Amino acid sequence: MAEPHFERHVFICVNRREPGNPKGSCAEKGSEAVRDEFKRLLHERGIKGRIRANAAGCLDQCSRGVSVVVYPEQVWYGRVAVGDVSEIVERHIFGGVPVERLRMK
Ligand code: FES
Repeated sequence: MAEPHFERHVFICVNRREPGNPKGSCAEKGSEAVRDEFKRLLHERGIKGRIRANAAGCLDQCSRGVSVVVYPEQVWYGRVAVGDVSEIVERHIFGGVPVERLRMK
C-alpha cells in the first residue's frame, strides 16, 4: 500500500485541561472551533487527499495557544482565532506564503 502524500498537513491542538489548571489549554481558548473552520474551508475547496487538517493533542506551546503547525514547512502559528483561519488557508495553504503576523515568535 502506498504512503499517503499530503502537500500540506495542518495540526490544530484541541487539548483540554480541567478548569483552573495553570497551564490552560487550547480548547478552552476555542481551538475546536478553529479546527472546525479549517476542516470546513478545506472541504469547501475540494482538496481531499492533497491537504489535510487534523486535531492534535498538546503541541507543548500551551501559553501561546490556540496552537497550529503546518507541515512540511513546519510553520507554527499562535493565538489563532476562527477569524484568522481563512487568511492562513488562502495565503499559506494555497498561496505558499506564511502569515507572518500569526507566527509564533
Ligand atoms: S494545550 Fe495546546 S499546545 Fe498545549
